[in-house]
Amino acid sequence: MTAHPNLEWLHVARPLADDGFAEEVRRGLSESQKSLPCRFLYDEIGSSLFEQICEVPEYYVTRAERSILQEQSEEIIEMLPNDTALVELGSGSAEKTQLLLEAFLAKQDEVVFLPIDISRSALDASARQLLADHPSLSIVAVEGDYARGLEAISSRDHGPRLILWLGSSIGNLGRDEAAHFLSELRNDLSPEDRLLIGIDLRKDRETLEKAYDDSEGVTARFNLNLLNRINRELGGSFDTELFEHRATWQETPGRVKSDLVSLQAQTVKIVELDLVVEFDEGEAIHTEYSYKYSTDEIDSLAGEALLSRERTWLDAEGRFSVSLFAGC
Ligand code: AVI
Repeated sequence: MTAHPNLEWLHVARPLADDGFAEEVRRGLSESQKSLPCRFLYDEIGSSLFEQICEVPEYYVTRAERSILQEQSEEIIEMLPNDTALVELGSGSAEKTQLLLEAFLAKQDEVVFLPIDISRSALDASARQLLADHPSLSIVAVEGDYARGLEAISSRDHGPRLILWLGSSIGNLGRDEAAHFLSELRNDLSPEDRLLIGIDLRKDRETLEKAYDDSEGVTARFNLNLLNRINRELGGSFDTELFEHRATWQETPGRVKSDLVSLQAQTVKIVELDLVVEFDEGEAIHTEYSYKYSTDEIDSLAGEALLSRERTWLDAEGRFSVSLFAGC
């Protein structure tokens, strides 16, 4: 881990053995509707495949959000009080955040950036890069999950804060869960604090299904990696050739549903769990939902969480939104 005068570390991570993978695999594969929680898609291989997804032509999400930040960062920063600190949930490489940080640095002499992420290596790499590029930046790198990370920094006095939650990560929560999570965030907001959230918008089926099933097959590999992860970590016998990735847009709940579909009747053993799992031909393991929002749905979400939407910016093609919220 790099020592740097402008870099401080806070470790609030849970021990790795405690992430509940084995238990959740047992539970999810023993139910009549099989499912696996999407957070387990992000082991080292999955995280690297996700980075590749962000570059495939069909996955417009990353590029659209980046273009909003490229165009609008100055205007966003103008709406904030001086000496605002930037907190980021799930900062990863902080590649898009850099655009906001540059706008902050043009307005303020000093900026404090508090990235929260469960990946220490991602935090270390991004902090090193940001500090090399911006000497007047101070970073408090928080290694941990959102809840523990926010709790750890809430006692520190950083003045007004902009809490950033990019990449439509909110879309991987159900609508009620998303409202609940935002209301928890809201409880911790001071009157000067703001939330800036990237939310993907509803659009036509073809665009959405291609975004989640790209022609290079990167998203399919990302999803199938979950079966490989069970093989690697729990002694599973999944043959990934016998499963297929499927992404389906469901208009009424407004979400893309990602599944792994068994191509034939088969039996899979998971040695470490002492578990035998039977699959029918065509039976699916549900792995991820990606919810999409209309502007009205963004307002209802904000209303449920007692937040008011101060401003929304869209990309030129109207595919993606970035909204600024305050407590109300
Ligand atoms: C991280 N999350 C917002 C992505 C999404 O769009 O739901 C994960 C992803 N899954 C497949 N492609 C991208």
